Parts: sequence; C-alpha cells; structure tokens
Amino acid sequence: MTAPGTPRPVVSFTAMEHGTRADYQLLDGYEREHAEGLADRLLASLVRLDDSLVGYQVTRLEHSLQTATRARRDGADVDWVVAALLHDLGDGLAPFNHDEFAAAVLRPYVREEVVWVVRHHGLFQRYYFAHHLGGDRDERDRFADHPWFDLCARFCADWDQSSFDPDYSSDDLESFTGDVRQVFAREPWSADFTQPANS
Ligand SMILES: [Fe+2]
Ligand SMILES: [Fe+2]
Repeated sequence: MTAPGTPRPVVSFTAMEHGTRADYQLLDGYEREHAEGLADRLLASLVRLDDSLVGYQVTRLEHSLQTATRARRDGADVDWVVAALLHDLGDGLAPFNHDEFAAAVLRPYVREEVVWVVRHHGLFQRYYFAHHLGGDRDERDRFADHPWFDLCARFCADWDQSSFDPDYSSDDLESFTGDVRQVFAREPWSADFTQPANS
C-alpha cells in the first residue's frame, strides 16, 4: 500500500525489449491491482452512458437499469443480471459493434452462453426494427439451429426491447453494485464460472 501522493516505482525501460524481469514483475503487480478496480470502473462507465444516444424516452443508463431489473425480477441469476446491466456498455465507444464490446468485458467472468447472448443481442434486437428501415428483421434466423438462439431471443423479448419505458420502476444502480463486484471479483477465465450451464 502506498501513501496517497507518494510516487510509485516505475520501470527502467523506454522500449519494451529492454525490460528486465523486475520491470515486468512490477507491472504484473500493478496490472492485478488495476483489475481489482474493474467493477468500480464499469459502474462509473454505466453512469457515463447517460450522455449517449438521444431520442428514446429513457436514458441509456435507465435502459440498462430497467433491463437488469427485469432480469432480476424474473429470478435470473447473477450472471444474467450483470450481463443485462452491462449489455449496452459499448454504446459510447463501439457504436457499430457495441454487443461485441460488452461481450468482451464479460467473457472472462461469466458463463459462455451469457456471453454468446450479449455478443449477439445487437443482431437479435434488429427483429424489432430492421423492417422499418428496409432491412431484414429475420436476419437472426441464421442462428436458428444454435443451441442458444432461444436464450438470446428471450433476452431481447423479455428484458432488452421492453426496457424503454419511463413509467417502469427500476431498481437503482446502487442495488446492483454487489452483483457487479461479485462477478468481477471472480478468477478470470476460471472454468468454474465460464463453463456453460448443463455442460
Ligand atoms: Fe444493445
Ligand atoms: Fe439494450
């Protein structure tokens, strides 16, 4: 633990090829420490979502809270609740593949089918609007035989597409902090957490 304001040791190199074992051990320690703050950084990013995508009757943060609240009230487990909360996290930074962005954040920590659903929710959501814009609303059918097709269709139908309602009473962000901390305190990439259900 370093006292606030105390400069912390830095590496000796200015090009990675000259780094020593001690340098990389130092960085490895800092990386682990940084990863421990991930839950808090994700929660802060969710608050910043309020700045993105105008035109809906609710903000992006409210949409995220509403999606997660619906998952929670349906009795979904913590992997689903946290995925529902974070599924649009990439709206600000990856507007053309926001689903991949959120899936990448979740992948080391939650079950594989949950990651798959988040990764594909952008395509599956198109079922609700693509035909209004001259597109094919059934594009998702290319995954019709996929074992997790129904999970993704339900994620969108029950939680995502319905969560734009200004009159819905969502749980507040504070109520989800324990869930987010629990998931991101897991050992990353551990099969204990990433194995699909029933596998
Ligand atoms: Fe989305
Ligand atoms: Fe969404």
